[in-house]
Amino acid sequence: MIETCFNTSITGRAVKNDLITLKNINIRDFAGNKHMKVDDYPYGGGAGLVMQAEPVYGAYDHTAGLIRKKRFITGLKTNLPVRVVYMTPRGETFTQKKAHELAKNKEIIFLCGHYEGIDERVLEEIVTDDISIGDYILTGGELASLVVMDAVARLVPGVLHNDESAVTDSFSDGLLEYPHYTRPEVFHGKRVPEVLLSGHHARVDEWRLKKSLEITEKIRPDLYEEYIKRHTR
Ligand code: ADE
Repeated sequence: MIETCFNTSITGRAVKNDLITLKNINIRDFAGNKHMKVDDYPYGGGAGLVMQAEPVYGAYDHTAGLIRKKRFITGLKTNLPVRVVYMTPRGETFTQKKAHELAKNKEIIFLCGHYEGIDERVLEEIVTDDISIGDYILTGGELASLVVMDAVARLVPGVLHNDESAVTDSFSDGLLEYPHYTRPEVFHGKRVPEVLLSGHHARVDEWRLKKSLEITEKIRPDLYEEYIKRHTR
């Protein structure tokens, strides 16, 4: 799932161009039993299975070892501990700000759980960040990690080309994006707003900001208020 998705489109191009390296580690390979079983019943009872601490730690230790080796080979001098992001609905909600913060790291380990969760003791030991992608429950952390990986990858220098620039994105200035139009000028009887055909850059910018403000106020009043506060100080 991770390989197929990440190796597609813009992130796939980044991997091909050696801007990003993706390495998948299967926790089952660290099961330590021939059935590759990595889960067990929860102490205290209750429904569902819990992922065991040992295989998760084994997978982490192996991956951290690969990262230390890579740091040594590439001459990266850092004592920074490796970021270990645990994808969980009980984490802090992922934002563009968090994407920028994570993008500063040379390496990130994403820990994806299944079942009811992972034994708390190993989480306490290795996890640096708990991240949720929203208030809903997925069947596993993989899809959530792909969301975070994609948002972080596009901030890595060189991943986006000029025409895919991350600067004018929604959220880059705390507002949602204005509407976009391309040819033809008339579609199903609807004309492209006249100002966009005027060639008058200042007026276009003014119109786009006005639209951004309108859309943000309507759809995300929380962001709108933040923006107004920041711009009236
Ligand atoms: N795993 C299951 N649900 C999740 C969510 N909403 N965010 C991150 N990881 C998850």
